[in-house]
Amino acid sequence: MKLVNPLTAIFHPPPTPGVLAVFGHLDATVDAIGRLRAAGHTDFTVYSPIPRHEIEDALDQPVSPVRMFTLVGGIAGCAIGAWLTLYMSYDWPIVLGGKPIGSIPPYVVIMFEMTILFGALSTILCAVRRSGAAVAVFAALAALAALAGLACNPDDVVHQIGWFSTMRHQRSIKPYAHPIPPVPGTVPVTGAEPIMSLQTADRLVNPRTRTSESINRGRFVYETYCLVCHGPAGQGDGPISSAAGGPFIGVRSLVNDTIARRTDGYIYAVIVSGQVMGRGLMPIYGDKVRGTDRWDLVNYVRTLQAEAKAARAGGRR
Ligand code: HEC
Repeated sequence: MKLVNPLTAIFHPPPTPGVLAVFGHLDATVDAIGRLRAAGHTDFTVYSPIPRHEIEDALDQPVSPVRMFTLVGGIAGCAIGAWLTLYMSYDWPIVLGGKPIGSIPPYVVIMFEMTILFGALSTILCAVRRSGAAVAVFAALAALAALAGLACNPDDVVHQIGWFSTMRHQRSIKPYAHPIPPVPGTVPVTGAEPIMSLQTADRLVNPRTRTSESINRGRFVYETYCLVCHGPAGQGDGPISSAAGGPFIGVRSLVNDTIARRTDGYIYAVIVSGQVMGRGLMPIYGDKVRGTDRWDLVNYVRTLQAEAKAARAGGRR
């Protein structure tokens, strides 16, 4: 028995009745197409070694919807690629290399690949099922998918159904979230920060003796935080003060007699919270200068005052 080769049917189809004609000139070809169409023929194929618009016009075949499928598929793919990457980044934000959470440049690759993938898939889909209704249905579907992708967060949708609850939805501190504030009245194990006010400040006692170690530390802290406004000698002429042409107005001298007569506690309180002590012009430094550094700073301000006093006395002589 002889087996039938299944490929024979494809490569050697049974003969179909028809006419084959070969033309040497473009005009003759166009003319023949025109007459055949006038005679009511619709099913014919023209082969040409080079594409000619005249032949296309004569055939007057409908524009293929494939390009539309490819376009819609491509746009949908690009949108889904963008949504996929951005959604995942914002869903679990991790700052890498100081880049913003939704950093577009690296996602362009994925958007590009998705454009190609969806464009190609929809082209094949169109080639397989080519009809007006299919085109409309597919276009509507693609638009819907793109819209839904852009508008919604699937995790929220999935979470609506109890079965799919994820670990992310437990009660926990999310990345970059602020932890829950302590219960009012909670005292830290390191001891509570005294509340600064004009009335209580003077009662604070300086626990740091004015050793050279303390003053050197205070100098370091002063040069880190205070010099920009109060100046190297505490005259209120630091580079960003209005006295030196900078934007900060109202910076006071730390070395005049008025402030030299102030208690250590007063200066300490200004460092911790300039907002409650003066006219509210000095920023708060209590969150930056901590522990004994504050008193070392007070000691250094005292040193600046002593130096200024000596300089004034020297000038008078
Ligand atoms: C951004 C500029 C700026 C910086 C930085 C700054 N200060 Fe001041 N400081 C001011 C201004 C402005 C005032 C006047 C406050 C007011 O009138 O409200 C002031 C006032 C003071 C006073 C009170 C002077 C008085 O006559 O009562 C002291 C003491 C003082 N600063 C110390 C410091 C110390 C110590 C630092 C470093 C931790 C510092 N300041 C950093 C701007 C600054």
